[in-house]
Amino acid sequence: MKSNQIVHLLNSLIMLFTLPALPYAYDALEPFIDTATMQFHYGKHHQTYLDNLNKAIAGTPHEGKSLEELVAAAGTISPAVRNNGGGHWNHSFFWEILAPKAGGTPTGDLTKAIDAAFGSFDAFKEKFANAGMTRFGSGWAWLIVKDGKLEISSTPNQDNPLMDVAEVKGQPILGVDVWEHAYYLKYQNRRAEYLSAFWNVVNWQKVAEHYAKAK
Ligand SMILES: [Fe+2]
Repeated sequence: MKSNQIVHLLNSLIMLFTLPALPYAYDALEPFIDTATMQFHYGKHHQTYLDNLNKAIAGTPHEGKSLEELVAAAGTISPAVRNNGGGHWNHSFFWEILAPKAGGTPTGDLTKAIDAAFGSFDAFKEKFANAGMTRFGSGWAWLIVKDGKLEISSTPNQDNPLMDVAEVKGQPILGVDVWEHAYYLKYQNRRAEYLSAFWNVVNWQKVAEHYAKAK
């Protein structure tokens, strides 16, 4: 067993959350998401949310609860669990819906659902990017399933649509991080350019899997 596997096993035995493996190399999403951004975003930002979440629940009645349970009750637990539990959930989700040599268009049922909800794939992309652009400060834009239908929403900070505090609740199937830490090294203040590049690395296969479970 490798040392990181032993650490993972020990952490899971004492109920600490651990950093999920990045499903591709740091440079795999170039040129759309650059290597340095991935190194800092995954290795520093996500790690910090994770460490602070573990600290926030250590020795409390919330230790041992699943991440989903913590997120669902985030508003009633503590700001630290809301911010860092959200940060851990959101980033774990985000790495999975990105992939190298991805992008293109969705297929099958998801295409039909997008057309039904938004009129066309292009109209959906415009509305989703707009949700990201108009999120003031830091936060996320989401494509969610709500009451069996697709909707676009956005959340501030590290909130997400699974939280009790979310204005619009639903099951996320796609999300984009619009914190400056997600794009500033390459795009500086050009959030629109980052959001445009994002479409080249969307893992539609994973989004379709999320949709199949959520619909
Ligand atoms: Fe982030």
